Amino acid sequence: MTESWVNSAERVGADLHLELSGPGGRRAALIRALREAVRSGRLAPGTRLPPYRSLAADLGVARNTVADAYAELVAEGWLTARQGSGTRVAERAEPLRRAARTPVRVPPPHERGPRHDLRQGAPDASAFPRAAWAASYRRALRAAPSEAFGPGDPAGRRELREALTEYLARARGVRTQPERIVVCSGFAHALRLLFGQGAGGVLRGPLGVEAYGLDFHRELLAAAGVRTVPLPLDEHGARVAGLGRERAVLLTPAHQFPTGGPLHPERRTAVIDWARSRDAVVLEDDYDGEFRYDRRPVGALQGLDPERVIHIGSVSKSLSPALRLGWMVLPERYVDPVLAAKGEREAWASVPDQLALADFVVSGSYDRHVRRMRQRYRRRRDRLVAVLAARAPHVEVTGIAAGLHAVLRLPPGTERSAVKAAAWQGIALDGLAAFRHPRSPMTAGEGLVVGYAATAEHAYAAALDALCRALPPE
Ligand SMILES: Cc1ncc(COP(=O)(O)O)c(C=O)c1O
Repeated sequence: MTESWVNSAERVGADLHLELSGPGGRRAALIRALREAVRSGRLAPGTRLPPYRSLAADLGVARNTVADAYAELVAEGWLTARQGSGTRVAERAEPLRRAARTPVRVPPPHERGPRHDLRQGAPDASAFPRAAWAASYRRALRAAPSEAFGPGDPAGRRELREALTEYLARARGVRTQPERIVVCSGFAHALRLLFGQGAGGVLRGPLGVEAYGLDFHRELLAAAGVRTVPLPLDEHGARVAGLGRERAVLLTPAHQFPTGGPLHPERRTAVIDWARSRDAVVLEDDYDGEFRYDRRPVGALQGLDPERVIHIGSVSKSLSPALRLGWMVLPERYVDPVLAAKGEREAWASVPDQLALADFVVSGSYDRHVRRMRQRYRRRRDRLVAVLAARAPHVEVTGIAAGLHAVLRLPPGTERSAVKAAAWQGIALDGLAAFRHPRSPMTAGEGLVVGYAATAEHAYAAALDALCRALPPE
């Protein structure tokens, strides 16, 4: 039996010639032909394969024959199948440079790249409010004066700063005015502006930081020559009584990242008192302040003293980290230095995007989206807790009252092997150790930091199932 098929370029985006020949029936022949096309590099990583029905029609085989062949090659790691984007050649399916007859080694799951992304940090990208954002964009473009398409003001568009003033006061308890807000591209950009190298820097170290946090932010500060001093954490958040000669402190007061609790009210006032007594400043990273589930809202620390706190937020969790839009709410004395650090023109945050966000907030779409996502993430979190209670009751889940991630507490000595076991199950995630300051005076114990927001809805059950298989037994 020899049959061949040359597909049209429109169908898969690349010419593909398949020869169905050799022993073992058509299913086996199709598997061999597709595997060979991937292995030889004729089908490049990422190429979309034709739907079952059309390939079956072209080859004159049954639809199930194609479905079975695809499924086999997905299991072997040559192809990937994802709802909504069809079957594609796997990104890791590299052409083999061995002799044609060498048996193919099927890579174990942990070498095939993660199937489930449970890393903390990202919202559900499939839930981006495309229609509402497009409507805001259209309205914003229609209403924008011509000067909006010239060089941008480094403070950000007035429309956006006004919208944020109202929104942050209402939703986060931030006390400010549009003149005190500077638009930026997110928290990381704010850090760069505040601690820019050389004379460009607005603030200087040493900077107190929580003993656990994002290493990306620590690296960014180290690259700017800022010395960070880790503050121990306990169940009430950062032990701010340990602050001394630092010139500033960076905190995540609404939801300590990554361990999960709010900063205790007494520590909130204590850190403000420290800043007043030392002429220092508190940087408030309000990265997921909108997502709270069980407890009463935790307002922004900035509300306690707008002259001592720089409040920083972005849409990275609430809408998308791809937009690169954020804001700094500044004490008066820092406004001009931050604007000077930004330069004469806006060079980071797209002005049309700023106008769209202003419309998105003023029209109520932002509130609606946040409310909808809060409900969705709360359901995700509840499911995580329920599945663990049923299948791994010995694993305690903490940090779940807010945010988009939880911490699964593990017995001493098991975190590393659990992270490895997760990789074997095709899961990408981090252990608590990945967030620990290298000079941390304490350890927050062992555990897995599980981001439950980013996995698409249809893949969540499988991700939780794989997670349970990776956890150490009782
Ligand atoms: C602790 C923390 N801070 C801030 C951010 C936001 O960073 P950016 O605004 O630069 O995207 C994140 C991630 O979304 C985060 O995990």
